[in-house]
Amino acid sequence: MIKQAIIPLAGLGTRLLPLTSVFAKELLPINGKPGIEYILDECIEAGIKEIIFIISKKKKMIKRYFYNDNFYKKIILKKKDPRIINEYKKILKYKKMIKFVYQNKPLGTGDAVLKTKKYIKDKFFLMLLPDDLIVKNNCAKSMIKVHKKYKSSVMASMNVNKKTVSRWGIYKLKKRIDKKNYIISDVVEKPSIKNAPSNKAVIGRYILPKKIFSKLLMQKPGKNSEIHITDSIQSLIKENYKFIAHNFSGKYLDCGSMNGYIKSSMEISKL
Ligand code: UTP
Repeated sequence: MIKQAIIPLAGLGTRLLPLTSVFAKELLPINGKPGIEYILDECIEAGIKEIIFIISKKKKMIKRYFYNDNFYKKIILKKKDPRIINEYKKILKYKKMIKFVYQNKPLGTGDAVLKTKKYIKDKFFLMLLPDDLIVKNNCAKSMIKVHKKYKSSVMASMNVNKKTVSRWGIYKLKKRIDKKNYIISDVVEKPSIKNAPSNKAVIGRYILPKKIFSKLLMQKPGKNSEIHITDSIQSLIKENYKFIAHNFSGKYLDCGSMNGYIKSSMEISKL
């Protein structure tokens, strides 16, 4: 079973500047609820027991959000507002599950993942990118089912507009194994339109093998001089590790850009 999840949160969030110069984008409300809580709820519903947040000194605000007990206790004593009591209970529930590790220089997603090396206990773990919300269906839960069936790594996948391939990790199919799942033969981080092996993109949900850490330790910087998790995944694929692309059935919402963030709030308010 997959019991641990990791969430990289140490990026700079430059696409949401100027807000992100003082604020952690993952706490921004989407239809009244901080974005990160959608991700936490997805994990809890999928049976995850421990969640590791990779933050940085600049994003300590995220830790403070979960560690404001004295403040809540005082307010609750004074006001006895059931809404606040309820929200505080939720925060306490989340807090029990979260561990914090630090990546103070944003050297890339691969480097962020590496910071969790000594905390990962089982052979496989889940990674979620908090900018990528998937609603209407629990993507992590479906992926865990696929992992159980095929005993392999799994990544969420979606067809994207060919013109936008340079924003994503793009993969090449080896073969279809059932209606929603495909074996991957190659994955390339942010390829140009010309070099993209397809228009099939990896979205921010991954079930990764612990073995990835040995690749990350040796991983050289790639696109934009960052250490990408995709490059280490490609090394494992080349050593015949099985990676499955799972075409999820929920709706994908991109909260990492201003347009996407605004649209996400509107979409979620309609649910
Ligand atoms: P992105 O590169 O898509 O987002 O990283 P970003 O860096 O936060 O924002 P922009 O692109 O500057 O607007 C994907 C995820 O990986 C995390 C980010 O916090 C985000 O959740 N990340 C990225 C890290 O934790 N560390 C890094 O070094 C890079």
